[in-house]
Amino acid sequence: MSKAVSIEKNNINELPDPNDPAVIEATEHYFDDIHRANPNITREQWRNYYAPYIYAIQQLKKEKNAVILAHNYMIPPITMCVSDVTGDSLELGRATEREDVQKADIIVSATVRFMAQTTRTMARPDQKVLLPTTGGGCSLAESITPEDVLKIKAANPGLPVMAYANTYVDVRALVDALFTSSNAVDMAIQAAEDWNTDKVIMVPDKYLAENTQDRLNELYEAGKLKRKIEVLTHPGSCEVHERYSREDVQELRAMNPGIVILAHPECPREVLEESDFSGSTSAMIKYVEDQRPEKVALMTECSQGSNIAAANKDMTIVSSTCQMCPHMKEVTIEGIYDALVNERQEITIEGDELHKALTPLTAMQEMMAKRAAAS
Ligand code: 13P
Ligand code: SF4
Repeated sequence: MSKAVSIEKNNINELPDPNDPAVIEATEHYFDDIHRANPNITREQWRNYYAPYIYAIQQLKKEKNAVILAHNYMIPPITMCVSDVTGDSLELGRATEREDVQKADIIVSATVRFMAQTTRTMARPDQKVLLPTTGGGCSLAESITPEDVLKIKAANPGLPVMAYANTYVDVRALVDALFTSSNAVDMAIQAAEDWNTDKVIMVPDKYLAENTQDRLNELYEAGKLKRKIEVLTHPGSCEVHERYSREDVQELRAMNPGIVILAHPECPREVLEESDFSGSTSAMIKYVEDQRPEKVALMTECSQGSNIAAANKDMTIVSSTCQMCPHMKEVTIEGIYDALVNERQEITIEGDELHKALTPLTAMQEMMAKRAAAS
């Protein structure tokens, strides 16, 4: 794994003075929300450390006609103060269709490498896509190789093969369609329909496949599916979500009567069985915004809870079990500043590979459109 970026000294010297009234005006109003989400950030730290970077990033975005797309796992100073679009992996992929993103010359992907590759695949060729780290890995994306996909295809001729968006372009180039945590069930149903089959292959996350299988079984048993669909998969897993256990959820409930527990579908099945709701990162945010529970715990990456706490004064987020993704956490406010100043860590995909990586993304969009029309 490569190291996260280091900031060149001369760039740090170019940061604005924290006492500049323009810096204070542009950043001070965020402090209460940021402090609620992370009480370790003091006002002094906010003023002297975060505020100059945030102000400089806001200025650089204007000067360079840049936008920032941030995943829900970014820290609140990124999602609240500098990002133009914050969302789950499907929403960030679709962000390239937005007018403000289309008009930008530079798109900074405050995510990990596979998500930046999605943005590169969807963006105009003349737009620069930057990832503010030289690393940005992911245990799921690294759990499957093109050779694995070729073996799976050879062993299952004629079956639809779909890859989770948490894969790299060399793997995507070999599959029929992509899917994300927010559309896995719909994509399985549509693939079974389009291929006229009762078996679909969804790689590489064994837990997401298992949880998708459970939802499909529930739909079938409720008479909502024409056929029983079997999901075949690969032994990949997310190093963050696989750490959660049934006991974690039970302990949280015992210690916090009335708590609402949400789990990402990359968690093991037993965690979802004990939880109140499961969905993509954005689906979890929508759930709490609609239901407005007083006390919430999230079986997912820590910043998801911080972002909900920052945006919702009236909610208590119990973070005792939260797990950090080391790859997402390589993206920092300094790294975004450095990426914008130096226009570096550009994501490039060669012509033929780009075309091959676009095909399953387009297939996903078409299958989703068919599914929406049918329901
Ligand atoms: P979503 O935001 O699409 O739910 O993905 C979660 C994740 O693990 C990203 O790395
Ligand atoms: Fe990959 Fe899991 Fe980190 Fe998401 S949270 S980037 S799936 S390791």
